[in-house]
Amino acid sequence: MKTRITELLGIKHPIIQGAMGWVSQSVDLVAAVSEAGGLGILATARLTPDQARKTIREIKQATDKPFGANLAPMSPQLDEVMNVIIDEKVPVFSYGRGNPERLLKRAKADGMIALPTMGAVKHAVRAEQDGADAVIVQGLEGGGHASHVATSVLVPLVADRVKIPVIVAGGVGDARGLVAALAWGAAGISMGTRFIVTKESPAHPNAKRKILESTEEDTLVTTHVTGVRCRVLFNELAKAFLGLPEITKEERDKLIFEPSLKYAFVEGNVDRGSMAAGQICGMIDDIPTCKELIERIVTGAERIIEQIKV
Ligand SMILES: Cc1cc2nc3c(=O)[nH]c(=O)nc-3n(C[C@H](O)[C@H](O)[C@H](O)COP(=O)(O)O)c2cc1C
Repeated sequence: MKTRITELLGIKHPIIQGAMGWVSQSVDLVAAVSEAGGLGILATARLTPDQARKTIREIKQATDKPFGANLAPMSPQLDEVMNVIIDEKVPVFSYGRGNPERLLKRAKADGMIALPTMGAVKHAVRAEQDGADAVIVQGLEGGGHASHVATSVLVPLVADRVKIPVIVAGGVGDARGLVAALAWGAAGISMGTRFIVTKESPAHPNAKRKILESTEEDTLVTTHVTGVRCRVLFNELAKAFLGLPEITKEERDKLIFEPSLKYAFVEGNVDRGSMAAGQICGMIDDIPTCKELIERIVTGAERIIEQIKV
């Protein structure tokens, strides 16, 4: 399926795997998505510059297709890792939160495609002004950092305000999500939670099982994980957060098991680690390969579009 985003990124299908700390932080998932015709994105926030360079080189060995690297402001070595991403000529640069102007300008100067994720209309408009080539727009249903606004409202508003291609994130997991994205004026989708539950995802089997067992009502938004609104699955840790007043960073670090995503997604302690995931977990009921998932979304979307025309 061709859209403005497949043209821009040089990929076959308008499907992106959103960066996920401790999940898309190694070669397997990123390379599998890119090999299947989507765009895999490496999360580098928790990598040292040496680890980032090694992983980027492994991805290049595993696929000759485009892929991206993502930086988040909590990265302890933000500028050093950015230097590695530029040095290794990663084709696409994505950025998770905050004002990306400084990093966007560096990425653009070095010929990378800049693809930030934004959760508010004004931030998407600002990203375009700062030089973003496309913008991922994440609504409140999404896993991880959560907008205040639903995807169904946010995306059409952004699509009306920017000229660059828009990609929908948050609450997308199947062919209907892709068709809705196109109807809202977007040019593709970016999925996080759905890609956690794939064969190539390195997430611990307990984490995959927890998502498979969760319904759309089993998530909540808390500021206690990272200091800003973050959507996580309901578990023992989340229960401890409920009813807590605002807490300091020190209290938060004591309460969560830093780095708490690692605890859940790598070590498999899904009760006490922070299980960032979106409401779409209610629609996830199998563990396909990335290729199977991407192909069924694209063929399903094409079929729906044909049916709508009749
Ligand atoms: C476990 C987890 C970790 C995440 N880590 C990052 C990250 O490091 N950087 C980033 O920009 N977004 C991060 N996100 C957000 C995803 O890239 C993506 O935008 C989001 O999952 C989309 O919503 P969905 O889960 O409903 O598909 C994370 C999401 C999850 C679920």
